[in-house]
Amino acid sequence: MQHKQMFNPIARELEMVENNLSQNINSDVDVLNQASMHLVKAGGKRIRPAFVLLAARCFVNNLESVITLATALELIHLASLVHDDVIDNSNLRRGTYTVKHEWGNRVSINAGNYILARALALSSSYDRKDILEVLADASMRICEGEIYQMVSSYNVDVGLKNYLRRIERKTALLISVSCKLGAMIGNASPEQVRALERYGYYLGMAFQVTDDILDFVADEDVLGKPTGSDVRQGVITLPAIYALHHSPHKQELKRLLASPARCAANYEQILEIIIDSDGIDYAYFVTEHFARKARKQLNYLPDKPVKETLFEIADFMPAREY
Ligand code: IPE
Ligand code: IPE
Ligand code: MG
Ligand code: MG
Repeated sequence: MQHKQMFNPIARELEMVENNLSQNINSDVDVLNQASMHLVKAGGKRIRPAFVLLAARCFVNNLESVITLATALELIHLASLVHDDVIDNSNLRRGTYTVKHEWGNRVSINAGNYILARALALSSSYDRKDILEVLADASMRICEGEIYQMVSSYNVDVGLKNYLRRIERKTALLISVSCKLGAMIGNASPEQVRALERYGYYLGMAFQVTDDILDFVADEDVLGKPTGSDVRQGVITLPAIYALHHSPHKQELKRLLASPARCAANYEQILEIIIDSDGIDYAYFVTEHFARKARKQLNYLPDKPVKETLFEIADFMPAREY
């Protein structure tokens, strides 16, 4: 199943988010406009706005008042991607060139900041301090996650705990917050808000572990971004952590992964060692574990058709190919 099909119950609302994205990015400054619109036009899965909408749909049918917030969540994500591609020196994203590749670092930093500020302006229209606090916190966590990852690069002694802390901040919390805010806008009970927050958290963890698997096994054309980039940059993800402990070639792997020069020059050999260990299977096992925990949270929600959709998304997550 494609993710688009799962979003059918909110297709009309996602269309409104799409229009809102283009309208809100509009700046009088041409370069800023083009750079920001470039990534919006390139598409993307839109899972964060979808989660805001689906979570709200658990409690209300009319989602008109949720569109702005859903738009803001995608904008925060977009801003983090524009900056991430500078940090990772990436040239491809969403099947097209990155803002970094087309306009360079200086425009990318400004475009990212611009998009983030737009998101905050949009969110403030709700006049709700609690919503702003949640969004500000998630935005801070993303930076923490990116920095944790940076300082852990080439460190072959990092373990599971370090990895989980990194991906929680870098990815899971924004997805968690998307679900939480949808529930808050829908006036859910505190228990229901917590259940959706946890659902998004576990799903976000599964999402990033899968993203890390895809960096080893995906078809670059389907994925729309480069593969093998974690290893080349010494980012030690779950399959690598497994291989560092269990591969028959773990000593050699350690020697290679600890050195920036060897990661760049010998990345094919590193990929081979990791893929030949059971690291990928192990990581799939971990995504299944998180997806199962996500599904469990749905027990706390009212029985509505949208619950089935949230269930399907949790099933889809470990199997996604893009
Ligand atoms: C990419 O996120 C960055 C991660 C946190 C893994 P997505 O996989 O949601 O990217 P788009 O929005 O579909 O391009
Ligand atoms: C992007 O992380 C995470 C953020 C959104 C901050 P990655 O660097 O692992 O993701 P891709 O592969 O570039 O999408
Ligand atoms: Mg990165
Ligand atoms: Mg990246």
